[in-house]
Amino acid sequence: MIKKAVIPAAGLGTRFLPATKAQPKEMLPIIDIPTIQYVVQECVDSGIEDILIITGKGKRSIEDHFDRNLELEERILEREDELWYNELRHIDSMANIHFIRQKEQNGLGDAIYYARYHCGNEPFAVLLGDSVNDSVIPITQQMIDAYEQYRHSIIAVQQVPDEKVSRYGIVGGKFLSERIMQVEEMVEKPQPAQAPSNWAVAGRYILTPEIFAAIEQTPRGKGNEIQITDSLRIMMQTEGVIAMKIEGRRYDIGNKLDYLKTTVDFALKRKEFAEPFVEFMRQRVQQWDQQHK
Ligand code: G1P
Repeated sequence: MIKKAVIPAAGLGTRFLPATKAQPKEMLPIIDIPTIQYVVQECVDSGIEDILIITGKGKRSIEDHFDRNLELEERILEREDELWYNELRHIDSMANIHFIRQKEQNGLGDAIYYARYHCGNEPFAVLLGDSVNDSVIPITQQMIDAYEQYRHSIIAVQQVPDEKVSRYGIVGGKFLSERIMQVEEMVEKPQPAQAPSNWAVAGRYILTPEIFAAIEQTPRGKGNEIQITDSLRIMMQTEGVIAMKIEGRRYDIGNKLDYLKTTVDFALKRKEFAEPFVEFMRQRVQQWDQQHK
């Protein structure tokens, strides 16, 4: 059983400046809900209610978001707005959320290492705080199911076009079934010529507690940081690592164009926005076509 999740949310968000100069990228809203709330919801929907968020300098608003705001609650109650009161209380009671701060920007592997006391001897899920998914079965639930079967660390993967491989950790290996690969190679953000395949690490992992010893042995890699991809490469040679093709759509809000696309897709899923928004886009596309043909 996987009962704990770790959400690393300590990165500087340099790809999203200037919006991330004074606010965490994980708090960027998709319409009206901060990205990290979707990530916490994915944990809850996958049966995980014990969550450790790794934060860092300038990330205090993440803690505030999952805390109660009594002043705001009082105002809303005065207005007898029960709907919003319930919504606010839902956020602070979604899960048992703990926080720890990464003291220096030493990379994703180092951030995950901060979870060693919290997770102890148990396997745990890792969900990167800047990506969200749209799937029938939550991706983390899909990974937990795969873990129950293989009992190894599991990495979520998806295929990306050649021009995008240098943005991701890339894995190569042997497919054991349609969705499951025995990982034989892993490289963090390779140039296309050095990439073993175009299967990209998709921001979700199940890690066995042996990962902490592997992180201790991991030298600094890409960007002079401790990369979890490199620690998993060590694990690949000891206990073995499995990659699982995700079933669903993944959105990376760490990059501006994908963030824009995410907002559009999520708007189309909202009853109150879908129709007027489609109408608006239809008009804009027509105008754009007229101006550019
Ligand atoms: C991280 C990981 C990378 C993975 C990516 C997924 O990179 O290091 O292996 O493919 O997340 O989003 P980052 O985007 O934090 O630079």
